[in-house]
Amino acid sequence: MDLNDRIPNNVNLASDKKLQRALEKWLPNYIDWWREMGPDGFQEKDVWLRTAIDVGSEGWAHFDYVKMPEYRWGIFLEPAQPDAKVGFGDNYGRPAYQEVPGEFRNALRRIIVTQGDTEPASVEQQRQLGKTCPSLYDMRNLFQVNVEEGRHLWAMVYLLHGYFGRDGRDEADALLERRSGNPDKPRILEAFNQPCDDWLNFYAFTMFTDRDGKYQLSALAESGFEPLARTCKFMLTEEAHHMFVGDTGLGRVVRRTAELMKQDENVRELGGIPLEIIQRYINFWFSYSLDLFGGEISSNSADFFAAGLKGRFKEQDQYTEHTAANQSFTLTVIEDGRLKSREVPLRNALNEVLRNEYVKDCEKGLARWNKILHDSGLTVRLFLPNPRFHRHVGEYAGHDFDINGNLISKEEFESHKSEWLPTLEDREYVRSLMHSVVEPGKIANWIAPPAGN
Ligand SMILES: [Fe+2]
Ligand SMILES: [Fe+2]
Repeated sequence: MDLNDRIPNNVNLASDKKLQRALEKWLPNYIDWWREMGPDGFQEKDVWLRTAIDVGSEGWAHFDYVKMPEYRWGIFLEPAQPDAKVGFGDNYGRPAYQEVPGEFRNALRRIIVTQGDTEPASVEQQRQLGKTCPSLYDMRNLFQVNVEEGRHLWAMVYLLHGYFGRDGRDEADALLERRSGNPDKPRILEAFNQPCDDWLNFYAFTMFTDRDGKYQLSALAESGFEPLARTCKFMLTEEAHHMFVGDTGLGRVVRRTAELMKQDENVRELGGIPLEIIQRYINFWFSYSLDLFGGEISSNSADFFAAGLKGRFKEQDQYTEHTAANQSFTLTVIEDGRLKSREVPLRNALNEVLRNEYVKDCEKGLARWNKILHDSGLTVRLFLPNPRFHRHVGEYAGHDFDINGNLISKEEFESHKSEWLPTLEDREYVRSLMHSVVEPGKIANWIAPPAGN
C-alpha cells in the first residue's frame, strides 16, 4: 500500500481504470464536502491520526501528524474467502454473490445508501465540537472518529461506484449533497439529523448511535454479497474505537459527577453535570438509536434475509439453523389501545431480533457506569428507558409511553417530558460548561481524566 496513492486501497484499483477514474472524479467533491462540513476551525491544524493502510491484524494502521483534508481516505476490504457461500436465507449454501444479483439490485443499493448516508451525517453533526473539547486526548479521539466516518463513506461509495454503474454514481453524489438537520435535504435517518453540539451529546452519540452502526455492520458483514461483507468486516475494526470513546467518555462524566456529589448534593454549584441530565441524554440517544433498526414487524427485514443480503448478528457463530423459515417470534404490539402479545413469522421480526442484541450490549455499558456509582458509595443508578419509550419508527411510533414502557396519554407524556428528555435548559446548562481545554495534561472540570492519566 502506498500512502501517496491518491486513493489508497487493497482492491487493486489501478487494474480497473474506469472505476479508478470515477472515484478520482468523486474525490475532489468529497474534499470540498469535507472542507465545508468537516471539523470547523481545524482544517489547517496538524492532528495526530491513525490511518488505515491494510486490514491485517498486525499493523493495519499508520500513525502520523496530518492536516485533515490531506488525510488518506482509503478503500480496504477484508481478503476474499475462497468458496464463500451465502450463509442464510433462501439461497443458503449457494456461492456468494460477487456481482449484484439483478433481482436484489434495488434492495442492495438501498441498504448501501442508507448505511453510507449515516457516515458523513455524523461528521456534520460533530463539526463544532473541536472548539470545546475537554482535553487534547478527547480532541484527538473526536477527529479520529471523524476521519474514520469519512473513510466509511468511501467504503460505501466504492461499492456504489464499483457495482451499480450509473445510478450508483448518482447515489454517491447525493451522499455529498444531503446535510444533517437541513429541512430541505436532510439525512435519511432521523438520529442523524439531531444536533450533537456538546460533548455529552457526543459521548452519548458514540455510545448509542455508533453502536447501532456496529449491529448494522455486523448483520451486513454476514451478507451473501461478498464485497459488502468484506467491507463491513473491516469497518467494524474502526467502529470499536468509536464506541470505546462513547462508553468511556460517559463513564468519565459519571465518575466526575460522582466525585462532585460527595462534595455537594448540588453538583451544579461545583460546575458538574447532574446525573438527571446524564440520564435524560441517555434516554434521548438510546430511543433515537432504537429507531435505526426499523419497524418491529418488517417485510423488508424478511426480504433482505430471504435474499441473503442482511443476516442476523453473528449469524454463523450464533445459529445452527440459517433459513429462519417456519419459525415465529412473539412481540408486543398495540391493539385497541392496549399492549398485547402477537406471534409473527421470525423473518418479519429480524429488526427486532437485532435490536434486542443491541439492547443487551447497551446494558453492559450501563452496568459499567453503575459500577462507578457503586464504587463511589452512591446508591443512585442510571438505567435504559423501556424500548417503547419515545419512538418515532415502528409499532410504538404515534403512541405515548412512560419511561417504563406503560402506555399513557399524550397529555401525560407532555407533563412528564421534562423529566425524561433533555430540556432546553439542560442543553443550555451543558453548553455553558463547554470550554476548550488543550493544555497537555489538563482536563475540563465536568469530566474525569481518561483511565491511566
Ligand atoms: Fe461509521
Ligand atoms: Fe462510527
